[in-house]
Amino acid sequence: MKKGYVDVVLGLQWGDEGKGRIVHYLSRKYSLIVRFQGGANAGHTVYVRGKKNVLHLLPTGILHNNTKVAIAPGVALDPEVLAREIEFLEQEGIEVKGRYFIDLRTPIVFPFHKKEDGLFEQEGGVGSTKRGIAPCYRDVYARFAVRAGDILDKRHFENALNRQIDFNNMLLEHFNEPKLNKDEIFAWFEKYKWTFEDALGDVSLMLKDEIEKGGAVLMEGAQGTLLDIFYGTYPYVTSSHTIAGGVLSSAGLGPFHVRRVYGVFKSYLTRVGKGPFPTELDDDIGETLRRVGNEYGATTGRKRRVGWLDLPLLRYAIWINGVTHPVMTKLDVLDGFKEVKAAISYNLDGKIYETLSPTTYFLEKATPLYETFGNFYGIKAAKTRDEFSDGVKRYLNKIEDYIGLKIYKISKGKEDRLI
Ligand code: IMP
Ligand code: MG
Repeated sequence: MKKGYVDVVLGLQWGDEGKGRIVHYLSRKYSLIVRFQGGANAGHTVYVRGKKNVLHLLPTGILHNNTKVAIAPGVALDPEVLAREIEFLEQEGIEVKGRYFIDLRTPIVFPFHKKEDGLFEQEGGVGSTKRGIAPCYRDVYARFAVRAGDILDKRHFENALNRQIDFNNMLLEHFNEPKLNKDEIFAWFEKYKWTFEDALGDVSLMLKDEIEKGGAVLMEGAQGTLLDIFYGTYPYVTSSHTIAGGVLSSAGLGPFHVRRVYGVFKSYLTRVGKGPFPTELDDDIGETLRRVGNEYGATTGRKRRVGWLDLPLLRYAIWINGVTHPVMTKLDVLDGFKEVKAAISYNLDGKIYETLSPTTYFLEKATPLYETFGNFYGIKAAKTRDEFSDGVKRYLNKIEDYIGLKIYKISKGKEDRLI
């Protein structure tokens, strides 16, 4: 019997690596594509027939008409955002109903979560997207969350939501905010529950069926490794497991079904929100990278912080995820640069580190040491890697040596072929 398999695609940096583009490229091969973490904090920009699409919740695989998509329990589901997304896609002529499934165990993001996210930010947060992500996962771990499948039992659902509202009222009181109006919250829920009530399912069992019948499944990551709740630059992280390990717990899957882990990284580095960023550029070069790379948040429109590629951090991310297939994006942004740098180690108090354990306090204090690569030209025109200028080739070789893996594909340009 032919057995199916699961591939994973995720980000190796602080998000915005261009995963949407890569998923779109890979997705034709898969019968099922699953989001396993994060929520509407994600913004996946994809271009289809020259038209820009930004998806926040549904896996970008939805853009292929013959793929099924699913949302696993590790996702924080905002049904209001989902409603807008479904309506937008249907206007674009993409069939959505009947093609997307939502796990019964998926927690719901309520309007009060978004409000609290904003309140915590005012008190000095981490620069969150204010999509209610941390408050929603907090309720999950405090065991106060309402989950999508709760609607199957009216009494259970009402009890759960009442408890969750009471719990959140304690917090709002701390902020001197008015108490939540229960009727309004129940009404909001009634208004949007159509987005998941006909789509409820068990993602783990969907995977079982798919694998048993020889199908191919893609797990689509959001955010990036350095934003992982455990392994990222805590506390400047998001509240979910963005790394490959998160796939298994979110989707209810054993490790041996995973075939490939595609790790996506940009040819330089960006970050949105607060937190350490050793190779950050505050100068004209940074401004150029931001402008040419169009580095503005897909969800919040914020200016992304930009800097050079950080090889110790990249190697760390490759290890944490067990990446088998590294994919580089946006190499075209470096076209025309006379000089490109990459951090190869750090100096802290006169000692040199190539650390595989980059804690936040280390990254805040360490000074990166760079290798410089000259003359980046002809990138956009090149059809193969052989056609790159010497500087580009040296850059790619250095990266491959450093991470100990061949770069599987390089993307350069929005709709160009990957090489
Ligand atoms: P939250 O996920 O909205 O709580 O935000 C926590 C941190 O993660 C902030 O620094 C955000 O800017 C960052 N973040 C969350 N989602 C994304 C994303 O999709 N791309 C890039 N950064 C993100
Ligand atoms: Mg993004």
